[in-house]
Amino acid sequence: MAKIKNIKGRQVFDSRGNPTVEAEIITDDGRYASAIVPSGASIGSHEAFELRDKKNKKYLNKSVFTAVENINEIISKKLNNFHIFDQKKIDKTLIDLDGTTKKNKLGANSMLAVSIAACKLASNCRNISLFKHLGGTVAKRLPLPLMNIINGGVHANNSLRIQEFMIRPEKPKTFSEAIRMCFLVIQNLKTLINSKNLSTTVGDEGGFAPALKKNEEAIEFILKSIEKSGFKPGKDVSICLDVASNELYKNGKYSVKSPKFEDVEKTMNYYLDLTNKYPIQSIEDPFSEDDWGSWDGFMKFLKENNKKTQIVGDDLFVTNKNRLNKGIKARIANAILVKPNQIGTLTETMDVIELAHKNGYETIISHRSGDSEDTFIADLAVATNSSQIKTGSLARSERVAKYNRLLRIEEELGNSAKIAKV
Ligand code: PGA
Ligand code: ZN
Repeated sequence: MAKIKNIKGRQVFDSRGNPTVEAEIITDDGRYASAIVPSGASIGSHEAFELRDKKNKKYLNKSVFTAVENINEIISKKLNNFHIFDQKKIDKTLIDLDGTTKKNKLGANSMLAVSIAACKLASNCRNISLFKHLGGTVAKRLPLPLMNIINGGVHANNSLRIQEFMIRPEKPKTFSEAIRMCFLVIQNLKTLINSKNLSTTVGDEGGFAPALKKNEEAIEFILKSIEKSGFKPGKDVSICLDVASNELYKNGKYSVKSPKFEDVEKTMNYYLDLTNKYPIQSIEDPFSEDDWGSWDGFMKFLKENNKKTQIVGDDLFVTNKNRLNKGIKARIANAILVKPNQIGTLTETMDVIELAHKNGYETIISHRSGDSEDTFIADLAVATNSSQIKTGSLARSERVAKYNRLLRIEEELGNSAKIAKV
């Protein structure tokens, strides 16, 4: 069985041009694999710690040389000679070596790069695809894409309050068909935005970032584009939102509708109005990460109003088993966004997904707004039978790379390929 011979870290750059960590592992029989970690902009305060060099002016205090050194000097020595197939042992050793709850010592960025590189290398050593290595023979289902096609909030320099305006194909027969549907809507959206003399340059996640002011304007644009593409809104293609409301929260109030802060009741009613008026089937982070009372109230409120909207916890759960467990008991959501770098190891990520599925939660595997050419999350989505993947628009190579990887996976699965339903 192949053993780890060397682990090498290096600083590379993400899609926003910021430094990030890459780890490369080499086995004693000369095989190797590498992984690059992503980085967020709207970061939850309960996320695992991302280690950056706070005093390196040359890189505006954003370099990751300490995290890289942790890989080269500490992790590499500790994991030397470990069997590459021992993912759980590798991750447990990383967790113990760090010894803190938020991975403050080694940094979640150094740990995750090693953890994912190990998984990739194990699949190389077995000569099978990553999704099969990780998910086994049951890994046959492609996720529905949640494509972020208009960017707002901290991902764009327009005035849109809501961070992400997404589309989701409903009941496509194949993944390629799902992508074709998104492609059509995006092309029509581009034409429409152009026709209003607005800019079609894109934001951090590849969605257009036109200078719109009101959330409703963005939604109307998307609605028109869905119709123009020949699809029925809500039936063929629905609209999904990521409010990322941590960024819009102050003293118990929210500024989701406009820059004016409003109380929770008004904010809930605003969401209800939006779902009544438009085919919105999923809302992510409608309330802030520690405002659990509002989440709880919102779930009850939706039930009273007969709404079956998918309510997704991102900054709320931060891919953390303890927070998810608490949330399940308190019934404050029905889906979780899964970002491996929020927690820092693959094993912990897999544990969260298992817990979510056991409790009837949908899982949405997600990129970060600062991402890279690494396509690991595409394989992760199929391996874990996750119903959805959120990895930006059909623009910017770091986003498209994940969709292209899923197209290849679908091809590899051939007749046995299925697509998720929600
Ligand atoms: P982030 O945004 O990667 O900037 O945190 C993504 C999201 O909020 O889902
Ligand atoms: Zn989010």
